[in-house]
Amino acid sequence: MNRYETVLNQLQSDPKIWLVTGCAGFIGSNLLEKLLQLNQRVIGLDNFSTGKPSNLQEVQGLVTAEQWQRFSFIEGDIRELATCREVCQNADYILHEAALGSVPRSIEDPITSNESNVSGFLNMLVAARDAGVKRFVYAASSSTYGDHPGLPKVEDTIGRPLSPYAVTKYVNELYADVFARTYGMELIGLRYFNVFGPRQDPEGAYAAVIPCWIRALIKGETVHINGSGETSRDFCFVENVIQMNLLAATTAEAAAINQVFNTALNARTSLNELFSMLHGRLLPHFPHLQGSKPVYREFRKGDVLHSQADISKAVRLLGFEPSHTIDAGLDAALSWYMANL
Ligand SMILES: NC(=O)c1ccc[n+]([C@@H]2O[C@H](COP(=O)([O-])OP(=O)(O)OC[C@H]3O[C@@H](n4cnc5c(N)ncnc54)[C@H](O)[C@@H]3O)[C@@H](O)[C@H]2O)c1
Repeated sequence: MNRYETVLNQLQSDPKIWLVTGCAGFIGSNLLEKLLQLNQRVIGLDNFSTGKPSNLQEVQGLVTAEQWQRFSFIEGDIRELATCREVCQNADYILHEAALGSVPRSIEDPITSNESNVSGFLNMLVAARDAGVKRFVYAASSSTYGDHPGLPKVEDTIGRPLSPYAVTKYVNELYADVFARTYGMELIGLRYFNVFGPRQDPEGAYAAVIPCWIRALIKGETVHINGSGETSRDFCFVENVIQMNLLAATTAEAAAINQVFNTALNARTSLNELFSMLHGRLLPHFPHLQGSKPVYREFRKGDVLHSQADISKAVRLLGFEPSHTIDAGLDAALSWYMANL
């Protein structure tokens, strides 16, 4: 039995109380679904700024009535310290996902991104500290590697941030480190690399590439590739992210505490390859895609050129064993995309 299977068994026999912030969003709602299926008690917080009530309704449909009763939802904002205190009160573990994602959003409106991602994060740290929460796992980001050209990315070697969003996520790491050393808290940051899966929002100017392209392909709209298409990413299916969160929250490995961990696969897929993967999967279902090609346009400011994670630290200290390659993740999510996009 690997460490993740052991953790899943232990949680089922000894359920805990989890706080998931951003629980109406993409990653938060996937964490919520898994925790409820493991019969955990979950407190959820979200202000529905980018998350949706329909994500919570979808999770309700995927768990039993008894499991759903173990969930209590508070509509509120991490920019309010009193709200953070209220939700932290009884939590054993915190999975902090609430933040405003998207590089271009932060370039257009850095102040609002900073308020949720930095001030909101600090509120959560203070509330968790005062509530004596055991472990605080937070969503960090691969954007912290910034302009450092090295590949694969190793946790200790970062460059200069390329966007306000990247600054906010790096500041999270700095605050977490200081809170660990100053107040003796146990914090673990997970640097997510391009996560994808069910309930990721395909709409709007800030949509992530996979749901955005799938939606465009299904609707017969143009797929735009920014740059030559040779830009590459380490796309990570959300099941792998759930695994990392549960491993980090429960680890007893002292060397893993107050660390950051790359959360991806150590695989690199170019945007041209991604287009072929999506097109190939959808073509049998949508004959209008025969012969369809992407349209190339200018490279987007703030984006990094290549991204690939060294995951050996997570493998060594957390026992991470990714369950899904990008192909397996796309196969697993295809029916959701076809039903919802
Ligand atoms: N999706 C990715 O590829 C990726 C990559 C790196 C890091 N991350 C980080 O992972 C986390 C989750 O991202 P996601 O992709 O699920 O995004 P998402 O937008 O779907 O989820 C974020 C959730 O946080 C909520 N939220 C935002 N500001 C809030 C506030 N002030 N108070 C309360 N709730 C608030 C939103 O309503 C939303 O439900 C974020 O911290 C993001 O920065 C995501």
